[in-house]
Amino acid sequence: MGIEFQDKKAVEIYAEGVTAEELTLRPMILKMAGNVRGQNVLDIGCGDGRYSELFARSGANVIATDLAAPQIEMAQEKHAHQNIRYSVGDVSAADAAPGSMDLVLANMVVPSIGSVESLDKLFAQARKMLRPDGRFIVSVLHPLILSPNQDDYDRPVNFDPANYFNEGSPYRSEAKTNAGNTMVFNESHFSLTKLSELMRKNGFLVKSMVESKQVPEKGMLLPKYLAFECVLG
Ligand SMILES: C[S@@+](CC[C@H](N)C(=O)[O-])C[C@H]1O[C@@H](n2cnc3c(N)ncnc32)[C@H](O)[C@@H]1O
Repeated sequence: MGIEFQDKKAVEIYAEGVTAEELTLRPMILKMAGNVRGQNVLDIGCGDGRYSELFARSGANVIATDLAAPQIEMAQEKHAHQNIRYSVGDVSAADAAPGSMDLVLANMVVPSIGSVESLDKLFAQARKMLRPDGRFIVSVLHPLILSPNQDDYDRPVNFDPANYFNEGSPYRSEAKTNAGNTMVFNESHFSLTKLSELMRKNGFLVKSMVESKQVPEKGMLLPKYLAFECVLG
């Protein structure tokens, strides 16, 4: 899964931006993160670095990693900042000490993870990097997006509802970018039950769970994204 991000052209299209993400996911994540001034933030699966830069501009010290080298190249080109250190790889490649992060973010990384084992590993890595009072913010596509009644901004094209509890089952979704191109995502679906089970297994407690807002003027009525704010406990 997530193979598209190893492709430079796909990464260029991704960097064009998607209206739904800008209007609904981004404000939700930034609000959940709150004031990050002076905080150590780890952005796992940072993509083109759009969130890393926002956090750095708000005064955070950011360490950002992504498995895909083309994403990190794009991040260094488009979203460089003196308070961000980018690296290619998973969390183990990050130049960060265990137990040092105030905030770990995995924004829309879960849909790029292809199996329960890999998701379990991601959560364990996030936990390891957190301070005892740190927070983990993780977002997913809301299961409602699997509904066929979606707008054009980000919609699944071949999800089989019979696979809802088939953890890690692959499907494809398409999103129109701001430049009018179609970005194709090869995603994996996990039930909310499995997500919650893996969070608990890795020592997380869900402090809040928020659904992204409606944007009626764009025809976005079902919440597209779901974000969890987790603490250790
Ligand atoms: C949909 S993009 C999201 C990018 C960014 N977080 C954002 O919100 O714009 C998912 C990214 O996660 C990366 N990724 C997937 N699994 C990862 C892992 N285990 N560690 C680091 N990056 C990962 C992919 O390469 C891809 O760039």
